[in-house]
Amino acid sequence: MAPLTLWSVVPLFAALAQSTWVLATPMFPRNTEPRWQKELAPRASNTTNQWPYGPFKTQGRDIVNNRGDVLSWAGINWPMSGETMIPEGLEWKSVDEILDDVQSVGWNVLRMGYAIQMIDEIYERDGNDVSLEVAMIMGLGYENGTKVTNEIVRKNPSWTVQTTRFEIWSDIADKALERGIFIHPDVHVHQAKWCCSHTDGNAWFGDVHFDTSNWRRGLAYVARWAKRHPNVVSMSLRNELRSSWNRTDLGYNWPTLVGNMSAGSDAIHAANPDLLISWSGMHTTRTLRRDPGRAPAGPGLLRPRQPPLGRQGLLGAAHLPDERGRGHGHVRGRGGGAVPGRLPRAGHGGAPGCGKNLTGGDCPPPQRLTPVLLTEFGHAQDATLYDDVLQNCLVAYTQKHRVGWMVWSLAGSYRVREGVQGLGDSWGLTNFEWDGWNDAETVENYWKPWVKAMNATTKS
Ligand SMILES: *[C@@H]1O[C@H](CO)[C@@H](O)[C@H](O)[C@H]1NC(C)=O
Ligand SMILES: *[C@@H]1O[C@H](CO)[C@@H](O)[C@H](O)[C@H]1NC(C)=O
Ligand SMILES: *[C@@H]1O[C@H](CO)[C@@H](O)[C@H](O)[C@H]1NC(C)=O
Ligand SMILES: *[C@@H]1O[C@H](CO)[C@@H](O)[C@H](O)[C@H]1NC(C)=O
Ligand SMILES: *[C@@H]1O[C@H](CO)[C@@H](O)[C@H](O)[C@H]1NC(C)=O
Ligand SMILES: *[C@@H]1O[C@H](CO)[C@@H](O)[C@H](O)[C@H]1NC(C)=O
Repeated sequence: MAPLTLWSVVPLFAALAQSTWVLATPMFPRNTEPRWQKELAPRASNTTNQWPYGPFKTQGRDIVNNRGDVLSWAGINWPMSGETMIPEGLEWKSVDEILDDVQSVGWNVLRMGYAIQMIDEIYERDGNDVSLEVAMIMGLGYENGTKVTNEIVRKNPSWTVQTTRFEIWSDIADKALERGIFIHPDVHVHQAKWCCSHTDGNAWFGDVHFDTSNWRRGLAYVARWAKRHPNVVSMSLRNELRSSWNRTDLGYNWPTLVGNMSAGSDAIHAANPDLLISWSGMHTTRTLRRDPGRAPAGPGLLRPRQPPLGRQGLLGAAHLPDERGRGHGHVRGRGGGAVPGRLPRAGHGGAPGCGKNLTGGDCPPPQRLTPVLLTEFGHAQDATLYDDVLQNCLVAYTQKHRVGWMVWSLAGSYRVREGVQGLGDSWGLTNFEWDGWNDAETVENYWKPWVKAMNATTKS
């Protein structure tokens, strides 16, 4: 099969020549910069000679550290973009215990899905981050907010009700570093809530609740935060971009995607040039193709600009989120069996129009290789995993082509989701109370062997 390729139709020099978006003025006057960021030293020490040997860069279809070692990721999503904007589960277990559980399976990367609202609120408060207690009361109401705050502090005694959201993030990142676990911050949604639909106001650049300048500001903030955390080697720009059904005048097309994503990439690299950046394509990240399917090309643009490479390189992200939905359709052949050839055809490789020949013979040779990560897919955590066509296709495909992945998700329950407090999720890897696995048997006999086969990068 052809190697994973992206945007293979435009030569490399075109990519280097573009990236025309520039900041006309500094985004925010100095005195509105969040207060704690002013106190931040750059990196505490030069970590170039310490694990994980950053900065990382892309090299063809691989991600490599500064010694040239190829990175292999097999990890899990840790949701934290719900109304409280505090990582799920901490009222049930300490950060250390949760990370021990993650490490026990061999998972070596956490995709931390956050809401840009978290950074908006810091700017609204003259640079002061929101405390645990305030976050909980705003998200859950006074009674449950107070109760859950106390439970979190009881489980995590080094925190107080005054500990802030980003202090919690830093604690998680530090403890993950000790264990050799990477952190991949991901803008999951703008307004903190369950994601993602066409009518939630968070679908596309400029949607009802998707202010693009606040988005770039938020990216820059997290990129600055990442400077203190050597295990944060990458960031995502935006989860599951899709068309807005509320605002249909925004230009749902490739030029708008590339223009805004280039601007977001520039905002990250201006703040922290060491980070790798992952791009999501259109149609809820199901395709990374240029001008895919029904998306019209922008008016007057003969050749849309290509995404920038940035200093360290670019990653693609792909999602196959729904076992019953369209994600499945991309990899299913007519007869119902899984056809791995459909994965590249779905846009993880190849030029528009090619890939009809499932053995791969009809795609032109790649002109540019880019690593691709499968950053979301999921399934009920029970014995039906063993027979699921799509899951087993992914197990084989990711090993054969060394494609890093992050399963959705750790959370067996959410403190609030879709208007319900204390909601269970059968797709979660943990059980409702986070004190064990949802299905210990499949963790042992499905997840552990798959992670092991990926040769996930460790700290040793
Ligand atoms: C960090 O250390 C490496 C290797 O010793 C060196 O090449 C690099 O210049 C140092 N970087 C900084 C910012 O001091
Ligand atoms: C978008 O439109 C739908 C249908 O009219 C509506 O239910 C929804 O509240 C709107 N979303 C926003 C964010 O305004
Ligand atoms: C970003 O998206 C908006 C749509 O809201 C569009 O008008 C604008 O041109 C895009 N920006 C760039 C730099 O392409
Ligand atoms: C598909 O590609 C293979 C080469 O990989 C070639 O042998 C075969 O003839 C092609 N089939 C069609 C229908 O073009
Ligand atoms: C408080 O949380 C519990 C679940 O832990 C939930 O059943 C209850 O409805 C919540 N109370 C309010 C006022 O939302
Ligand atoms: C993991 O390492 C083994 C032994 O070197 C190798 O055979 C296998 O292909 C590797 N798997 C991946 C996904 O790189």
